[in-house]
Amino acid sequence: MDPSTTNVAEHPGDQSVSVAGTGISIANVEVTYGVGSAEPVNALAAVSLEIPGGSFVSLVGPSGCGKSTLLKVLADLMSPTRGDVRIGDAWPETLRRAGRIGLVFQDANLMPWLNIERNVRLLEELVAGKGSATKRQDVANLLEVVGLKGFERKLPHQLSGGMQQRAALARALVLDPAILLMDEPFAALDEITRDRMAFELMRIWQHYRKTVIFVTHSLAEAVLLSDRVVLMTARPGSIHKIFDIDLPRPRSQETRVSDHFIRLVGEINRELYQVMA
Ligand SMILES: Nc1ncnc2c1ncn2[C@@H]1O[C@H](COP(=O)(O)OP(=O)(O)O)[C@@H](O)[C@H]1O
Ligand SMILES: [Mg+2]
Repeated sequence: MDPSTTNVAEHPGDQSVSVAGTGISIANVEVTYGVGSAEPVNALAAVSLEIPGGSFVSLVGPSGCGKSTLLKVLADLMSPTRGDVRIGDAWPETLRRAGRIGLVFQDANLMPWLNIERNVRLLEELVAGKGSATKRQDVANLLEVVGLKGFERKLPHQLSGGMQQRAALARALVLDPAILLMDEPFAALDEITRDRMAFELMRIWQHYRKTVIFVTHSLAEAVLLSDRVVLMTARPGSIHKIFDIDLPRPRSQETRVSDHFIRLVGEINRELYQVMA
């Protein structure tokens, strides 16, 4: 692995975990569901990808091409059939056990009977029970950064969909994750909220500088947010092409109407048609 693409340091007194902006190395990861069954499904074919620490990378590609599967492998929610993943110097399993892999899905999955602060602390409480030495974010500060100050005592149903996703993001960040994996996190939101959340996410990302892997169906959203957009082929998914998004940051509403932005989205769109043909 190229050491320049990772940024791993240990917390004092902490043996196992790394700080913000950890690089990810994916080597020949292959996933087949139902190995040995009558109808195995080859979801991923030999995916290799180096993700620099602190970068924002989007995964796009046809439905069913294995984007969620790849995130599950990175999160150690499943093992690949073949291949290897390293997050900094660590195995995904080590980080998962330490609660150091942040996950955000389409659904916020908040506990309906716990207020927002308790929801955000839940993971912290579960991992603390194992005596982990993991560094914790200051929850009050975290809630302020994600824009939930004043809503700490509200129950999830008292919050809008966008605010519930902010809470899910805060929960994912509470244990100072090495990486943040987001699987279509804004897909269930209305257009206006979704748009606002994209800008909010960029602001929060600039603040914490986590390595983010973000799955979306929206090419424009991918281009707006990312340093790189990874276009996958149809199933079995592999990497078709990687687009460097050299739009200056911070990005604004103006970015989206710039010729360069429109050209980038068009270019990826054209390639997407190629892989679906
Ligand atoms: N548990 C499973 N068992 C069998 N096939 C699965 C399972 N999960 C996903 N698949 C199949 O693997 C492929 C990739 O799925 P997924 O990673 O969810 O794709 P994406 O997120 O890109 O839409 C799809 O064809 C899907 O039907
Ligand atoms: Mg998916």
